[in-house]
Amino acid sequence: MEAIPTTLFESVVRWEDAKNCAVLPGLIESHSHCVYTGGRVADFRARCAGESYEQIAARGGGIRSTMARVRDASVDELVDASLPRLYALLAQGVTTVEIKSGYGLDLENELKMLWAIKELQKRTPQTLVPTFLGAHTLPPEYIGNREGYLRLVRDEMLPRVAQEGLAEFCDVFCEHTAFTVDEAREVLVKAQEHGIPGKLHAEQLSNFGGTALGAELQVASVDHLEYLSEEAADRLAESQTVAAILPGATLFLGLSRWAPARMLIDRQIPVALSTDCNPGSSPTTNLQLMMNLACTQMGMTIEESIAGVTTAAARSLNRADCAGSLAVGQSATLIVLKGQSSAEMVYPMGGNSVARVMIEGKWIVG
Ligand code: NIG
Ligand code: FE
Repeated sequence: MEAIPTTLFESVVRWEDAKNCAVLPGLIESHSHCVYTGGRVADFRARCAGESYEQIAARGGGIRSTMARVRDASVDELVDASLPRLYALLAQGVTTVEIKSGYGLDLENELKMLWAIKELQKRTPQTLVPTFLGAHTLPPEYIGNREGYLRLVRDEMLPRVAQEGLAEFCDVFCEHTAFTVDEAREVLVKAQEHGIPGKLHAEQLSNFGGTALGAELQVASVDHLEYLSEEAADRLAESQTVAAILPGATLFLGLSRWAPARMLIDRQIPVALSTDCNPGSSPTTNLQLMMNLACTQMGMTIEESIAGVTTAAARSLNRADCAGSLAVGQSATLIVLKGQSSAEMVYPMGGNSVARVMIEGKWIVG
């Protein structure tokens, strides 16, 4: 696929361009796994027949089936498969996209995913933020040798990722299906030693303890939080860590449990909102639908949902100074809505209310 054009729609900015329309900062997708190839229709079929996400993962489906596809793909194939997802995010008004590795699960293939993100950066005017997620799940060849895989992540992958400057963050999936709190700590401490700040997938499927670890290590964000306890929320409130909630995964996995947004907001914890775009638990690029779900299912106000994809999302990517707000001195990266009110963007259930997208003073869409 061709690169997304950066000059095709270039024009002088005029106020008439946005007459009677709401103007907001470019949106930020702060948690995605959008670099992959092949969907997971077979897993979906199995789930529709009654198998759970965890059961599918336990028999080698789930993340490991995407891993097999990604290991077989070249950098170019990964780029070609992923660019349309970035384009779809761009059409949604998303001008910054965090992207995780985590489907390679060995040195060569984790690096390949991060190289693919680097390559994608040349083909889109969006800002891409790469995150190393080597500790996503245990690859099949290490079953029975958890320590061996952790050693690989800590002592081989992380130094290469740091040396080549391939990632801005290091994430760990902390869950009974993936890595324990102590294992997550080992990886994140090592990442911090390499100057790479942490993130965590925490309390997605159970109240497992990742949030307290994230607060203790002052990671940039703890993400998911469906099973967050009051006690862990208290720990989070004492830290600088952002909470990121991902309603697409609850919706798509048919779970009854939404992340407790009000528990977080009542404690003044900044709450970022994201698609979690991935082939297994949230195959969507519709960030505006996430805002709608945050309001209809999680008790967030329109303004809180907008903060979730702008200011709070920027904080979760250590970019509060340069993204997620419109201010004198910041670059003109903004979106124009189809309607007069910012609520227009939150109201449709799964639509797109963005008319135009400008990145650094250039019209990219519309
Ligand atoms: O955020 N929780 C772990 N990782 C992804 C799912 C990845 C997959 O199923 O491919 C998530 O939901
Ligand atoms: Fe995720």
